[in-house]
Amino acid sequence: MSYPYQIRSLEEYRSAYQASVKDPEGFWAGIAANFQWRRPWDKVLEWNFTEPQVRWFSGAQLNITENCLDRHLAEKGDQPAIIWEPNDPEEHYRILSYKELHSKVCQFANVLKNNGLKKGDRVCIYMPMVPELAIAVLACARIGVIHSVVFGGFSAQSIADRIQDAQCSLVITSDGANRGNKQIPLKSVIDDALVQCPSVKRVIVLTRTRVPVSMIKGRDVWWEDEVRKVETQGNPPCPVEVMDAEDLLFILYTSGSTGKPKGVVHTCGGYMVFTNYSFVNVFQYKPGEIFFCTADIGWITGHSYIVYGPLSAGATSLMFEGIPTYPDAGRFWDIVDKYKVNILYTAPTAIRSLMGFGLDFVKNKDLSSLRVLGTVGEPINEEAWHWYHDNIGKGHCPIVDTWWQTETGGILISNLAGVTPEKPAHATLPLPGVQPVLVDEKGEELQGNNISGNLCIKFPWPSIIRTTYGDHERCRQTYFATYPNLYFTGDGALRDADGNYRITGRVDDVLNVSGHRIGTAEVENAINMHTGVVESAVVGYPHDIKGQGIYAYVIFNGTKTDDESIRKDIVQTVARIIGPIAKPDKIQLVSGLPKTRSGKIMRRILRKIAEGEFQNLGDTTTLLDPAVVEEIKGGRL
Ligand code: PRX
Repeated sequence: MSYPYQIRSLEEYRSAYQASVKDPEGFWAGIAANFQWRRPWDKVLEWNFTEPQVRWFSGAQLNITENCLDRHLAEKGDQPAIIWEPNDPEEHYRILSYKELHSKVCQFANVLKNNGLKKGDRVCIYMPMVPELAIAVLACARIGVIHSVVFGGFSAQSIADRIQDAQCSLVITSDGANRGNKQIPLKSVIDDALVQCPSVKRVIVLTRTRVPVSMIKGRDVWWEDEVRKVETQGNPPCPVEVMDAEDLLFILYTSGSTGKPKGVVHTCGGYMVFTNYSFVNVFQYKPGEIFFCTADIGWITGHSYIVYGPLSAGATSLMFEGIPTYPDAGRFWDIVDKYKVNILYTAPTAIRSLMGFGLDFVKNKDLSSLRVLGTVGEPINEEAWHWYHDNIGKGHCPIVDTWWQTETGGILISNLAGVTPEKPAHATLPLPGVQPVLVDEKGEELQGNNISGNLCIKFPWPSIIRTTYGDHERCRQTYFATYPNLYFTGDGALRDADGNYRITGRVDDVLNVSGHRIGTAEVENAINMHTGVVESAVVGYPHDIKGQGIYAYVIFNGTKTDDESIRKDIVQTVARIIGPIAKPDKIQLVSGLPKTRSGKIMRRILRKIAEGEFQNLGDTTTLLDPAVVEEIKGGRL
């Protein structure tokens, strides 16, 4: 059985693609017809990339949870919606059927209402990967509350910045989180963050690790107590809030090349249509299959392909609380074996790391249920691609290399599993409805194949970023001002002789460390918070497992202890300001940085040195102090 709008052959792909370019509105109206709308749209699309303003399905009304839950109840009520595998394999797993998930979402939505929330309010969610995280997200969406999920690895300061930016009035968290053999005290991190956040009036705390927490009177309440109150009210139903297609669904913060992370805004109608469409087509999902996306719901991948995409398609989504190497490096394969997973979607960094542990962890695991493999988040090198293909897919599972971004909401460029050809290390072709172009430095569109350039998209798709929360000008500047009338992705790409795209990586000052986006400016700001630091410059360098590592050049004139403790201190500062994910891998203490006479740091030179490429440093004679380059080369780590 397949979905009515599932592309099933290369010919169908070609004709769908052509139709989508010729008549985008007709194409998307056809796909959107497969959802439950409370009111139909007046206009499929209105747009310009100058302001920018993009409106999909305007006039239409819907609620995304009605499409993710209610509409499946009649036929799929008893089918698993979420399968949850705990961090500790000895702990019991959980399965929530569509019926159960629906009733828990309604119940928690009533909790949120009891706590004073109404349509348009913002809620920050800082939780471990437990079913209650998905429940909290969907409960917000059910009553029109805008969720802002913050990944559990971010620091108190990063959370505070995000809460302040969105002016959240409520936080949902848990006492702690289990990650491998570590526990992370989430509630205590929230307590630290909230010192700076007067907008937050209520904190709902789920019990997970049972680590002692301090509950602040009048502000903090337990999840379980609040749910009990709703039960004593007789578990009233929770009708959906009817939303306009362009009402905000969520905010998700992501890093850019300058300033603090920005709140990427997605809206209800277009995001629903596109995540569902891309899920069903890229993975060629078949009803009854088990889909395992290993991402965290704190990132866009988890939003789109653990929660909204799969659930709106009535799929079974597997959620994993732990990490790939706990209790050992065979954990993913144990999970595939245990639940007979059909589709596995993970990141190249995880594949490279597991490759390093050798095949002993793969042997003796039954992976025969696997039909499709996927990767996301960063370029996949050919070696990792082949390892994944041969040892996990046993040579017969197509690998979809899915390119997309927080801002795109869903997958834009990818092969469709078993339908369009795959090519190692290539994201291949755009989905029908997506119009990528490569441009040169001046923004001229490059025609033909066998070319490389900056990747832009020239026509809107339904889940394109609508704005950056509270600062529309920043959205315009970042994505729409570089090249007129184009959405600029920040990525460079090649287009091969057959029109396949190969994404080569960011062309701006954004790093991709283990598939996580981190701005160099953000890391520099954090390093500069250390009292002994005068100035710093951060660049990326190739890292075998993480893809990119963080290399920091630091001018330090604080109290001189030994270099090793200075480095440790700086690493700690970054962990405290941003979170452990942004810790520099290498810190080189230097006496100066290469600057032009106008005071601009020559990052190109620093990048080359970090990469160990001392040739072709380019002209250094224009530098203020050329000698500093020699010193830095000599001290390279
Ligand atoms: O550089 C691209 C890289 O990840 C960036 C987007 O990061 P983020 O918004 O955190 O979203 C990650 C998950 C969608 C892109 O600008 N990227 C993502 N997927 C790929 C990729 N690079 C190469 N190949 C991919 N398949």
